[in-house]
Amino acid sequence: MATAAPPTPHPTSPSAGGEADPNSTNLWPPGSSYDAWYGVAHGCTRKLGMKICGFLQKNNDLEERSGIVSSFKERAAKNLLSSCDNSGGDARFRRTEIDFSNLYARDLLPAKNGEEPTMQFLMEVVEILTSYIKKTFDRTTKVLDFHHPHQLLEGMEGFNLELPDQPDSLEQILVDCRDTLKYGVRTGHPRFFNQLSTGLDIVGLAGEWLTSTSNTNMFTYEIAPVFVLMEQLTLKKMREIVGWPNGEGDGIFSPGGAISNMYSVMVARYKVFPEVKTKGMGAAPRLVLFTSELSHYSIKKASATLGFGTENLILLKTDERGRVIPAYLEAKIIEAKQKGYVPMYVNATAGTTVYGAFDPINDIADICEKYKIWLHVDAAWGGGLLMSKKHRYKLNGVERGGGLLMSKKHRYKLNGVERANSVTWNPHKMMGVLLQCSAVLIREEGLLQGCNSMSAGYLFQPDKPYDVMYDTGDKAIQCGRHVDIFKFWLMWKAKGTVGFEHQIDKCLDLSAYLYEKIKNREGFEMVFNGEPEHTNVCFWYIPPSLRHLPDGEERRERLHKVAPKIKAMMMEAGTTMVGYQPQGDKVNFFRMVISNPAAGRSDIDFLVEEIERLGQDL
Ligand SMILES: Cc1ncc(COP(=O)(O)O)c(C=O)c1O
Repeated sequence: MATAAPPTPHPTSPSAGGEADPNSTNLWPPGSSYDAWYGVAHGCTRKLGMKICGFLQKNNDLEERSGIVSSFKERAAKNLLSSCDNSGGDARFRRTEIDFSNLYARDLLPAKNGEEPTMQFLMEVVEILTSYIKKTFDRTTKVLDFHHPHQLLEGMEGFNLELPDQPDSLEQILVDCRDTLKYGVRTGHPRFFNQLSTGLDIVGLAGEWLTSTSNTNMFTYEIAPVFVLMEQLTLKKMREIVGWPNGEGDGIFSPGGAISNMYSVMVARYKVFPEVKTKGMGAAPRLVLFTSELSHYSIKKASATLGFGTENLILLKTDERGRVIPAYLEAKIIEAKQKGYVPMYVNATAGTTVYGAFDPINDIADICEKYKIWLHVDAAWGGGLLMSKKHRYKLNGVERGGGLLMSKKHRYKLNGVERANSVTWNPHKMMGVLLQCSAVLIREEGLLQGCNSMSAGYLFQPDKPYDVMYDTGDKAIQCGRHVDIFKFWLMWKAKGTVGFEHQIDKCLDLSAYLYEKIKNREGFEMVFNGEPEHTNVCFWYIPPSLRHLPDGEERRERLHKVAPKIKAMMMEAGTTMVGYQPQGDKVNFFRMVISNPAAGRSDIDFLVEEIERLGQDL
């Protein structure tokens, strides 16, 4: 049996959050007892405070209570206890004591005299959010406080998911906000390694708040003038970075990499068989598409959704590192043509989801040019590396910075991406932009509009008082479109291109550190040999009980169960999160991915030791 997890501070405990927030209404009492603190908190926010106190009483251990008290003492000493009567400054932004138990949404703006309750309510929300943010970056806070679906559905103390007929008070709404975060997963935590999208960029967050405050729609310049221009400029910059001359071409931000990939298939089809738009697939011959067996499943989904059928998506074999074998692609194209099919589209993945492999784009581009097939590069995950001089190109093993030294034929990560007809690039993965933010870039201008436009007269009137070329909404398959650009644009402004470059280089350095740490470590076995190309590090943990078992079915069966068991214990302990999966004939293995700029070497050390701690008795 595994040893028990060490006690971890509760995510909502002040002791877990490090220094107390001077603006918090969660005042620590002027005495040293927890009960006194309870009273003060109750006084400050009335029933809300009471609920929080009740919650703390129920959930905090003694150590945490003494943490609360000492935190209070520290603050009192620093004379920072001013949140309930914070005088000075603009009165509109001063938090006052308000009883939210008697206030309802109808009391907020636009209600008459609604300004004050609105400001106070929002300040409470900001307090909840900032407290969450601080704890997210605190390594003594859990990554998650796991509950089974039935537990959450049954309702937790003061938190019920059922929708009421009558309005809940604003006090309850605040508790709901706090609890929603409490029972969620801190994806910005430095020890969250579970997904490709991680991190909590503060400027990005500010951008997201602003975006929601503006609550507008990307379909027309008429109602989103600034955002539309930001999108156009950012897409151009991304195309320049891909390497298309003067950043020419087209593109759009979509709800994710899967949809961006779908756009690429639609546009590729429109390029060769535009009549499909009006007449349907019956107007086209039997079209086939090609992608690697390790590519993202969204290519398969696009084949199904767009009426090609998954059987017309030909899966390509990969080498030992998970990269497409170009000769195999060519053989499959020839075979399809001999059968009378029309090869239409090839997807090359730059950074596969599990292995982080980069298909050899230049070799694939040669074949696509030879057979006149649309080449798409799915760089949803690997696109971030385009920001890094070190990781984007390489010439004969020499890292280089500009375009001058690039060998067209050299196989290295994103070499050749500029030869693609379309590229998917998700800033919401490696670049740490908050979800969602994905772009599809198209080299030829006009195709997106031609493929998707329906010219709805009520929205896209041609006789508007500005250049209607900026009404970009008809390029989309959606009508209304969320503003995904602003947070990205704001982050880019705040970091500069060099900031993204450093961020990405740091994540790749960390994955190299992990690889070096475990490649020869007892109990760890790499899924493939050699340094990882991306931040994906795939490995098995072999518990001592399996180490001397000979290779064979029994070992495989037992090893298959190890990663899920360790993961389950990890989630229960809430200390860290990392993904696992089987792949082909390989039994369950861990896939470590690093895209969170908050992660450091100590977090990598922690993960490795935590796996050993949890797995040693399996
Ligand atoms: C290579 C690749 N392409 C596409 C996607 C889909 O992206 P999204 O989750 O943004 O739809 C993923 C997601 O992990 C991916 O790894």
